[in-house]
Amino acid sequence: MPLLDLIKNRKSVRNFLDRPVEREKIMMCLEAARLAPSACNSQPWTFIVVDDKQLKEKLSNAAFSGIYSINTFCKMAPVIVVVISERSKFFAIAGGTLRGTKYYLVDIGIAGEHFVLQAEELGLGTCWIGWFNEGAVKSILNIPQHKKIDILIALGYYDREKLGPDHSREPIGKIASFNAY
Ligand SMILES: Cc1cc2nc3c(=O)[nH]c(=O)nc-3n(C[C@H](O)[C@H](O)[C@H](O)COP(=O)(O)O)c2cc1C
Repeated sequence: MPLLDLIKNRKSVRNFLDRPVEREKIMMCLEAARLAPSACNSQPWTFIVVDDKQLKEKLSNAAFSGIYSINTFCKMAPVIVVVISERSKFFAIAGGTLRGTKYYLVDIGIAGEHFVLQAEELGLGTCWIGWFNEGAVKSILNIPQHKKIDILIALGYYDREKLGPDHSREPIGKIASFNAY
């Protein structure tokens, strides 16, 4: 499928099927993420794939309760991918500090979207998850407390018929211009 069609097809999935995801497909998504560009080629990420049913249940019960319950739908997802933001290379941190830019977040975003688009191509649905109990995720997966988890990705098969309506986007004329602001 041409890339633009794939991008048009992708929507956040919040209604997953109870069907395991093949490891080979997850590996392809990870490979797409691995190849992402990053500032100074820092590759400031580690992906922990939680596909063990019991562990995933424990993780999602803890991560999406209380004030995070709005994301309870993630409990349905057969796979939760935890994206740990690792330390960038010195020049990316130094340059980022001078520029007032958190390059590592840009990097994580690109790698995450590589993962998401590869998943879409394989017929898998995803949802970026930024609202979750980070402390609970760390303690359940034995991730050191000083590490930062900025984002999770819920992953799984889904029923396209049950997707919500298309999300509106601003028109090109409002978000882009040539040669001037
Ligand atoms: C960084 C980031 C964090 C997000 N966090 C959540 C979240 O916690 N819960 C959720 O349901 N959707 C979350 N989303 C999904 C957005 O709500 C969704 O991408 C947006 O509404 C556009 O819809 P679409 O993905 O279907 O095109 C997040 C998306 C991004 C990029």
